[in-house]
Amino acid sequence: MGFRKDFLWGGAIAAHQAEGAWDVDGKGPSIADVMTAGDVKTPRRITRGVLEGEVYPNHLGIDFYHHYAEDLELCAEMGFKAFRTSIAWTRIFPNGDEEEPNEAGLKFYDDMFDKMRELGIEPVITLSHFEMPYGLADKYNGFMDRRCIDFFVRYASTCFKRYKGKVKYWMTFNEINNQAEWRKMGAHHLAQEGAVLVKEGDDLEAMMYESAHNELLASALAIKACHEIDPDAKIGCMIGMNGVYPASPDPHDVLNAQKAMTQKYYYVHVHAKGHYPINMLKKFERKGYDFIKEGDAEILAEGCVDYIGFSYYMSFATKFTGRFGDTYDFSEEDYVRNTYLKASDWGWQIDPVGLRWCLNWFNDRYELPMMIVENGFGAYDKVEEDGTIDDSYRIDYLAAHIKAMRDAVTYDGVDLLGYTMWAPIDIVSASTGEYDKRYGFIFVNYNNKGEGDMSRGKKKSFYWYKNVIATNGEEL
Ligand code: BG6
Repeated sequence: MGFRKDFLWGGAIAAHQAEGAWDVDGKGPSIADVMTAGDVKTPRRITRGVLEGEVYPNHLGIDFYHHYAEDLELCAEMGFKAFRTSIAWTRIFPNGDEEEPNEAGLKFYDDMFDKMRELGIEPVITLSHFEMPYGLADKYNGFMDRRCIDFFVRYASTCFKRYKGKVKYWMTFNEINNQAEWRKMGAHHLAQEGAVLVKEGDDLEAMMYESAHNELLASALAIKACHEIDPDAKIGCMIGMNGVYPASPDPHDVLNAQKAMTQKYYYVHVHAKGHYPINMLKKFERKGYDFIKEGDAEILAEGCVDYIGFSYYMSFATKFTGRFGDTYDFSEEDYVRNTYLKASDWGWQIDPVGLRWCLNWFNDRYELPMMIVENGFGAYDKVEEDGTIDDSYRIDYLAAHIKAMRDAVTYDGVDLLGYTMWAPIDIVSASTGEYDKRYGFIFVNYNNKGEGDMSRGKKKSFYWYKNVIATNGEEL
């Protein structure tokens, strides 16, 4: 009953949201380095290059580049068994299309992984976490150009060779499926996934499916390379999983929600089974898409994942509007509020039971080990006069979600390898570019206005999580 003895308790961040040092030691700009600051009401913008007068929060991050040793020591104090971060692609290949890697970038991660090992922490590494080289986006239009598949595989293989024996758990593209919601976020979501820089008049839907296909090929080829280079390593996909419920038992709503799940999560099907679900192939045929070329099916079939990594923050509900007729195609514009759930200050609906639902959804279809590599609660934290921070709301959120995953393990037989909550230390928000949307057990003294000295402090949740790990999830 309960979690396995070697359960990987830990936390997760991404290079671009934490490291800062965006142009240090030969690093090139990534797509994250041309995203401006926003907030809960103001969307981030993507600029053509780094422009004077704009504010780019990822350039500074929390200066993890220079503070990772002390930050990892704080994580070790909580008893972390695993730490998930990403390698910034542009530290290794600054423009993305170089023949040779940047040694200073490779050395930086050597040192970081050595530090983790010294602390008894297993590195769990994402190869691309919204970090496509700006050079590839600008020059090749990202994964719209098949040459980017080779550039990614070269980068991935360089990492597998260099960190063989140091890194056992890999993932290819962070939340590769976010781009399925291209209608809501437009160019932002496509570019964040490393797809494309788009212009007026582009057919975003067609571009999304084509560039996602090329990204899936890149992922499959990297997985194959990983298996060949380091047979002891495990490599997974990373899916942004937020289940879609029907808004009511009306059969139209139920079918609509089912189609939404296929359209949002066919990416995991390709990763786990090595081919597209027929439902999606029918859609491509209907739309006249011909981006699947000879030989692609074999590539996908040979690059299946060892485990499913996924993030979970919230769930959605959808109401059938009839806008796509008999196809029942999904549009995220048809989401409705779920009146059974409360939401965070950013409108993210809180649904711990939904996490168990998602674990079962994956398990029933793919029967693969899983790792929850992100789950957390973004909130405004208040520092009291005595310097303490009572973030009981974060503890409540995490406790309810950990209980749900414990039930999925105990009662539903889910094979769960680990849980790396997001994010053990306050970092820059990916969607809004804010500092004030905080997730951490560790407070970072820095805010949206650029005030603060970046010093680190422990919140109430720090001590709570330490006990969760010490009791292997028994005491929540
Ligand atoms: C996930 C991303 O979507 O959610 C992270 O993988 C991100 O990069 C996290 O930070 C939380 O989202 P946000 O927008 O609150 O930072």
